[in-house]
Amino acid sequence: MTDSRPGAGMDRGSLSEESSIKHFVASLGFDRRLYREDIAGSVAHARMLARQGIITVRDAELITTALASIRGEIERGEFLFSMEREDIHMSIEARLYEKIGDVAGKLHTARSRNDQIAMDLRLYIRQAVADTLSALRTFQKSLVETAGGHRVVVLPGYTHLRRAQPVLLAHHLLAYFEMAERDKGRFQDCLKRSDVLPLGSGALAGVPYPVDRASLARELGFPHITANSLDAVSDRDFLLEFQAAAAITMMHLSRLCEEMVLWTSAEFGYATMLPDYTTGSSIMPQKRNPDVAELVRGKTGRVYGHLMGLLTVMKGLPLSYNRDMQEDKEGLFDAVDTLQACLEMCAGMVQGLRFDRRRTFKAAEEDYALATDVADYLVAKGLPFREAHGVVSRLVDYATGQGKPLRALSLEEYRRFCPLFEEDVRSITAHSSVSARGVPGGTGPRQVAAALRRARRLIERESAAE
Ligand code: ARG
Repeated sequence: MTDSRPGAGMDRGSLSEESSIKHFVASLGFDRRLYREDIAGSVAHARMLARQGIITVRDAELITTALASIRGEIERGEFLFSMEREDIHMSIEARLYEKIGDVAGKLHTARSRNDQIAMDLRLYIRQAVADTLSALRTFQKSLVETAGGHRVVVLPGYTHLRRAQPVLLAHHLLAYFEMAERDKGRFQDCLKRSDVLPLGSGALAGVPYPVDRASLARELGFPHITANSLDAVSDRDFLLEFQAAAAITMMHLSRLCEEMVLWTSAEFGYATMLPDYTTGSSIMPQKRNPDVAELVRGKTGRVYGHLMGLLTVMKGLPLSYNRDMQEDKEGLFDAVDTLQACLEMCAGMVQGLRFDRRRTFKAAEEDYALATDVADYLVAKGLPFREAHGVVSRLVDYATGQGKPLRALSLEEYRRFCPLFEEDVRSITAHSSVSARGVPGGTGPRQVAAALRRARRLIERESAAE
């Protein structure tokens, strides 16, 4: 990553005091990323000013044509970003002056940088939400594909990281599908409150010109306009909501990565990762480390940090705009980029997992993971569950003492603990255990197959609508 901070790569010792202050207040180093949004907003604003007779149609045309060519310059890398300009707004306006002279000065009629930056950020969030939703969908697709390719694989389900009951691997993977589904809901929800046009709020009190906010909103695709100018220029809730949603999504990815680290360890030995997602050790030649998964887990920290950072920036601010708010951007951009990259990595890692189904099956039957099923067996024979639980608990203690799995006990040994046991108790397997859980939402194969179908349909529908 290149360091794009203002002053980065410059010899700070040679800066005069005046220019070090300039650098301190400048945001151009990072807000230049908003050039597209800034220009889109300015073009719509200029057109609206002309429609309302606030500037002439000819001036608006000069302005919008020049703005389009500035966008081209930036995109082709020809635009000279000068640290003499504080931020992206001033940089573009300065270039506009160079191109069309004093007419450039008319663009900022009925507008302030305060409502301008609020609008840029709202346009930015709209795109960030769209990109995040699409990355979440790709991630979900890889979960569904991997789940679909391992329909009969059984592994131990855990609580307290102790083997608890057998589950289908597909069921386990689809748990993450559900998390991603809720994540998508949170980003969509954030968009609802983000998609509101703040332009027309001016510096803080509204503007003394006959602007048409509704037509501006239509042109920029905002379904609503803000209702209070003070709030509009000082509201950053929509960024906080995005960051909160990003933090929760990262928490989900981090949990998944933790599981992948465990599954691919020699201790578990359930799966292997594509070698691309691992790296060797510089000293131990035998090692393949799950660095990508570890980094996703680690990067979760900085995304949480950005949320906390912005909450802290906002907490003591009186209405309305305060320059503190310029600090909203770097963390936001980093959260957007980090989340996008982590989703992409996780999709690839999940897709590339290869499972050792014999080993996971064996693990699912070891450690008395079928004990609950044995208790349920007694319940089916009429014993109250609490009693059955007690019987099997004593049975497991006995088997543990003998150093034997339950399946190695004779029927006579079973019967010492309860006369209701019959030969068929020994037909309890991880498969029968899983199959018994046909309850909606359970790990029964039919339920899981239906969940897979639902998940596939959902993704297909969304991809088609994209
Ligand atoms: N760079 C500023 C920011 O990001 C833009 C708004 C500046 N407004 C002001 N009154 N100085 O918040």
